Amino acid sequence: MKKSILNKWPLLAFLLLPGSFSVLRADEGMWIPLLLDQNEAEMQRMGLQLDAEDIYSINHSSLKDAVVIFGGGCTGEVVSDQGLVLTNHHCGYDAIQYHSSVEHDYLTDGFWAGSFEEELPCPGLEVRFLDRITDVTDAVLHDLDAKLPEKVREDSIRIRSKRLAGPFEAEGYEARVVPFYYGNQYYMFVYEVYPDVRLVGTPPSNIGKFGGDTDNWMWPRHTGDFSVFRIYADSANRPASYSPSNRPYKPEKHLSIDLNGYEEGDFTFVLGYPGSTQEYISSYAVRLIEDVMDPMRISARTERLDVIKAAMDRDAKTRIQYASKAAGIANGWKKWQGEIKGLERLNVVGSKQDYETVFQDWCSGVNGKEFAGILPALKENYQGLEPYLVMQIIFQEHILAPEAVSFAYSFNLLHDVAKGTDSSMSLEDALAVCKEKAGIFFKDYDPEVDRAIFERLAFMVNADGTREQVIDFEGSTLEKQLDWFYGKSVFTSRERMEKFLGNFKESSYKALERDPMFKYAQVVFGQYVNQTYPFIRMYNARIDSLQRLYMKGQIRLKESGDFASLMRVGIRNDIPLSNVGSEMLYPDANFTMRVAYGQVKGFEPADAVEYAPYTTLAGIMEKEDPDIYDYVVEARLKDLYARKDYGPYANALGEMPVAFVGTNHTTGGNSGSPVLNGDGNLIGINFDRNWEGTMSDVRYDPDMCRNIMLDIRYCLFIIDKFAGAERLIDEMDIIKPVWYRGE
Ligand code: ARG
Ligand code: GLU
Repeated sequence: MKKSILNKWPLLAFLLLPGSFSVLRADEGMWIPLLLDQNEAEMQRMGLQLDAEDIYSINHSSLKDAVVIFGGGCTGEVVSDQGLVLTNHHCGYDAIQYHSSVEHDYLTDGFWAGSFEEELPCPGLEVRFLDRITDVTDAVLHDLDAKLPEKVREDSIRIRSKRLAGPFEAEGYEARVVPFYYGNQYYMFVYEVYPDVRLVGTPPSNIGKFGGDTDNWMWPRHTGDFSVFRIYADSANRPASYSPSNRPYKPEKHLSIDLNGYEEGDFTFVLGYPGSTQEYISSYAVRLIEDVMDPMRISARTERLDVIKAAMDRDAKTRIQYASKAAGIANGWKKWQGEIKGLERLNVVGSKQDYETVFQDWCSGVNGKEFAGILPALKENYQGLEPYLVMQIIFQEHILAPEAVSFAYSFNLLHDVAKGTDSSMSLEDALAVCKEKAGIFFKDYDPEVDRAIFERLAFMVNADGTREQVIDFEGSTLEKQLDWFYGKSVFTSRERMEKFLGNFKESSYKALERDPMFKYAQVVFGQYVNQTYPFIRMYNARIDSLQRLYMKGQIRLKESGDFASLMRVGIRNDIPLSNVGSEMLYPDANFTMRVAYGQVKGFEPADAVEYAPYTTLAGIMEKEDPDIYDYVVEARLKDLYARKDYGPYANALGEMPVAFVGTNHTTGGNSGSPVLNGDGNLIGINFDRNWEGTMSDVRYDPDMCRNIMLDIRYCLFIIDKFAGAERLIDEMDIIKPVWYRGE
């Protein structure tokens, strides 16, 4: 059925006006805020009431001034004139865990500061405001000949980038020059970094992480995935390290919150920091992801999770120790499974191959001849890369699966300082570093679990179920090795480690050299560093420069207008839309600020299944299971539900909305991003994607790809009605719903 529609596509393509393509594929794309003029008309057609300048401007305050990079890999938004920030619970997780102890278990119980004084400093946590974006392509690339050796090119770019960033850094900003379109363009991002960020509030895990890993990447979803922080600044409102005398930061701009919700089909946009996508890679690269990398990682993690989950089920202490590790391992594990299914379903390799046929044909003509050699060279280099990639995954997912291996390797510093081959720090300092590391490591470490992981991951399970040994025991048996590692090494026992560090003196480096795990770590890291990594680096460098040209060629092909005439000569038509339709190609994500826009919209994940676009508190009650950790519901929430005590946070139907889905194109890093309505007011917080759509990092499918957002009404309901933190509600600018105001 689908196929026959697609087969008519070329015909349709000639009937439609070029402009109408962009309407068809409005949902795909992560756009550069600086260039939003190009999207403005389409966004307005879809429901935006603002101008591009209201979203990004360097002349006056704009929405981008209320959006921050939160920590190392998330997004957050400012929602009050006192520097209050919202982000996801899973983004604030480390800070929440840092402040949690047996006496104050904020992870389990939640936390709400009752005053500014009670807000908790979070060492190491920073937020970054984007001051400006500038196109520095000419300054970075001028007269760099395409034939320059890659190394020379890279060095020149590094020097030029540094020169460009210099004046901003001298004024205390952070400036990063970032490649776009695989190095065909460069933009500079200037940030202001605020290092005093404090924890203000978080719901208990059974709200913030409701559904846990079972519901992760899934719709319908009921996770209250948010936490609340505040930015502090010095008395001049400037960035400053933590000090008790710092004050709440007065932002240039903060978002208003609209409790009027949305209807299916309503326009939404997301402003945030998507981390990485690969929409323009070749079929060879997609095949590697789909047939090699994802399956190997999934299979290794299935084994690892098997061991961990069994241990967690057996023992409450292990459950707590391994909860966060298991979540991290399972997050990728589950995503890659969805990704493979999506790539298969869309036949992305096949359609990329078709596109490549068109591309190669085009290369025999005048416009494309400079690109003629690229695809064959890419193919050759991916073939060369593959065995090393396999070795890399074995290293990462098998050899490093037992945690004691990397832990032991991290003691090289202490070894070198003690032996006198590294004088970068004193022995006391190196010892102090290791003592701290060991404290953190053993807090969440169970040697029996680690041993079981080692035993299991010494083998790789092939697609046909056979097991293949991937770790070498050098003439010994696995059993003997394990007895030795887990019975003798200081890296697998807190007691042995404490004794070892307690008596450490300069000559102790010799004892380290005799330690079985330390020795083993030297061998496996040595092999990786000498036999795998150099080849990975070499092939990747070649692929990078080829991909840069390939990207340039794809842009050229599109701009040349040759595409339509090539399609006429019988090339199959289900070619990547991202390479055909719109006026321009959006650049792959690279953890710089982007605008994604689309609509609130449900989807049909499978035959006869239809998903509504939002969930409600009733669904939490349906999922409740007091015996399953991830589905426990607190009495207080049940009580609010029973009394329907929702205040202004209910929708017009009297329901308490929890989460919703839309067609905004997002990826990892967009967690915590503000979801805005046509007026630019906050209606949600992005936190996930649907499982069926996780291939959107490689190929976006408007039918199946959805971003998952927390409804801001549920967030405020929890803050206000559940936690009673009215002081936070009072500082926000809230637009009450029409039904509540009685209009
Ligand atoms: N899938 C989301 C993301 O990629 C949420 C991950 C955290 N939640 C979890 N249950 N592991 O970050
Ligand atoms: N949870 C993801 C994050 O941390 C967002 C989900 C995704 O789109 O990959 O950014």
